[in-house]
Amino acid sequence: MAKSLYIETVGCQMNLLDSELVVATLRHRGYELVDRPKNADVILFNTCSVREHAEEKIYSALGRLKYIKRQNPRKIIGVLGCMAQNHQKNVFKRAPYVDLVVGPGQLHQIPDLLDEVAGGAPQRLEVSLDRKGFARNEIEQSFESYDPLRTPEMRPSPYQAFVRIQIGCDKFCTYCIVPKVRGPEQCRPPEAIFAEVRQLATEGCREITLLGQTVNSYQYQGGTTTTRLSDLLSQLSDIEGIERLKFVTSYPCDMTDDLLQAVGSLRKCSHYLHVPAQSGSDRILKRMKRGYTVEQYREMFSRILHHIPDATITSDFIVGFSGETEADFALTKELVEECRFKNSFIFKYSERPGTKGAIHYADDVSEVVKKERNNELLDIQNTISYEDNQLRVGTQYEVLVEGPSKNAHKEKSSGSLLQLTGRTMWDHIVVFEGDRRLIGQILPVTIYEANAFTLFGEVKTEHVGPEVYQLSS
Ligand code: 5AD
Ligand code: SF4
Repeated sequence: MAKSLYIETVGCQMNLLDSELVVATLRHRGYELVDRPKNADVILFNTCSVREHAEEKIYSALGRLKYIKRQNPRKIIGVLGCMAQNHQKNVFKRAPYVDLVVGPGQLHQIPDLLDEVAGGAPQRLEVSLDRKGFARNEIEQSFESYDPLRTPEMRPSPYQAFVRIQIGCDKFCTYCIVPKVRGPEQCRPPEAIFAEVRQLATEGCREITLLGQTVNSYQYQGGTTTTRLSDLLSQLSDIEGIERLKFVTSYPCDMTDDLLQAVGSLRKCSHYLHVPAQSGSDRILKRMKRGYTVEQYREMFSRILHHIPDATITSDFIVGFSGETEADFALTKELVEECRFKNSFIFKYSERPGTKGAIHYADDVSEVVKKERNNELLDIQNTISYEDNQLRVGTQYEVLVEGPSKNAHKEKSSGSLLQLTGRTMWDHIVVFEGDRRLIGQILPVTIYEANAFTLFGEVKTEHVGPEVYQLSS
């Protein structure tokens, strides 16, 4: 009989990809996906440790399962991903009814672990080695990249896919838990990446997003050949069927000219770059151990625009990092105003036990001040995003149609039309009306309205041959 699986995922694109692959593997093993934990034989949480809030949310969700597990002890509960690696057996202490704790470097073991637990085995903890106390190669081996084969019907969208090119991180920014929980930086061999993308293309995938914690630091030494991200992009561009290439997240110090030239010149490369600045104050950047000054970030920013004049650039910022004064924060606001990012993701500093930041610096900015700074910076960014989007009204963009919009079910549909959402080559979200059959196609959409987050448009049908897209009948 088919077993049922419920999975909840929090965190970044890397986690979304991991969950997709775990689900694909388990479906091959006969599991069926259900959308409520109550109805599932196996309940999995794929977790994030970047901020305390994300971890606490998982413990609350686990708390809600206590009763369900008591009623039905045969249900299997698993905690996967970054929090599993971070808290290890402490997960069992806080939630003793959890059966499995599996770190991100051990996901390949999940099917067997589930069989063992279903067969009556006791609680299992499978995590990778700590980053201290072992040889680098031993640690690397203990963090295995999880890239099993997937099938198109098991992907969230058949037209888009994440492809991992790098795991782990060696930058050790002082606030960040990622190098601990995702292990050393390791790049995937180019041949494996090409094979995966070629396979995705034959299955009808049109857009690939390459993933890595510092994706532009990608470098692979095979014999005497070094492959950089720019080389990957240029070779991936030759794969027929793939129309769009993106990559996230970039590290400012590794934004080299060869990469910018590749992005600027390759037709299939999206002109969207996510390059987190984190702060506009040199003093804070130094405490964060980011490895650059604000001046160097500015220089990198203008180099992007030199090579790719129409690039859209987004950033992350942490407000209220240890020791951040009003003067430091004012410098961050200045940087946002000067760069006019397309968008910024703004986070209140969350001290992560075990990081250099937690060991050496006090978490001395109050929650109230963090919140104020967060809101203030968000207001500045939202005004910029709004103004920038207004300038796009009247423009026609090629939009890759992703699917029904979040509000599609609420909208009154006129005939067979529903609200669809898609993205431009610059990563703008575009909402427009169209037939469901347009999903997966690349269409010209003219923008007639915009807010800070979304462009609203209508599909233009003139001047485009039927070979490019099919209109609804
Ligand atoms: N507290 C708050 N934000 C953090 N980030 C990483 N670590 C922390 C932390 N301890 C943010 C950074 C990073 C993004 C993914 O999350 O801005 O770029
Ligand atoms: Fe964390 Fe810094 Fe690595 Fe990004 S570069 S994952 S912020 S340690």
